Amino acid sequence: MATVLHISSSVRSTGSTSRQLAAEFLSQRKASHPGDIIIERDLATVPVPHLTEQMMGAFFTPVEQHSPEQAETVQLSDALVAELLGADIIVLGVPMYNFSISSTLKAWIDHVIRVGVTFSYSADAGPVGKVAGKKVYLFIARGGVYSEGPAQSMDFQEAYLRAALGFIGLTDVTAIRAEGLAMGESAVEAALSGSRRLIEQFAAA
Ligand SMILES: Cc1cc2nc3c(=O)[nH]c(=O)nc-3n(C[C@H](O)[C@H](O)[C@H](O)COP(=O)(O)O)c2cc1C
Repeated sequence: MATVLHISSSVRSTGSTSRQLAAEFLSQRKASHPGDIIIERDLATVPVPHLTEQMMGAFFTPVEQHSPEQAETVQLSDALVAELLGADIIVLGVPMYNFSISSTLKAWIDHVIRVGVTFSYSADAGPVGKVAGKKVYLFIARGGVYSEGPAQSMDFQEAYLRAALGFIGLTDVTAIRAEGLAMGESAVEAALSGSRRLIEQFAAA
């Protein structure tokens, strides 16, 4: 039995490929792992706020020195971190917007990458991720092709996510990429069938 944290970030409630493929994975996984618990977090419908000066101040103040206001300020971030730490598997639906991830997903990342909480830092050891032993699946959707070819260096979506997640210890990351979605019907068909083959394989694992 695993706890699966499913995070969606496409602004589209219908017609979203990242949502569709993540949903197919979860439904197939549920069939082969009926005991799984799935926690849903939809960042498009319930966005987390951008960081503020007040939040930064609270993040960098030791818990035992928190004012009542700071204790309240860190509650959401603490809840997001607890959700992440409580999951065995993290499923992320990731549309590409302007070569990167959605601003809502970036805001979530800003809440869960916290010094002393999800990573530690020392002069000797440098940064050390504290979120270990979890599996991450990225359901990536994008109009163009970035896994190969001339646009490869413009992928600040998967490359960024791997760097940011890896920084806190999430290094076991598998990407299922539906790309070329704006490149005609046959490209879409090829992207979807390729993704579905991988989904079948990973959902049974
Ligand atoms: C605001 C916006 C920006 C986008 N920027 C890019 C981009 O930089 N590169 C790209 O290949 N596709 C881009 N796209 C296309 C989306 O990545 C594509 O439609 C993808 O399927 C979105 O994910 P979804 O289907 O889960 O909503 C953009 C779409 C939108 C709405």
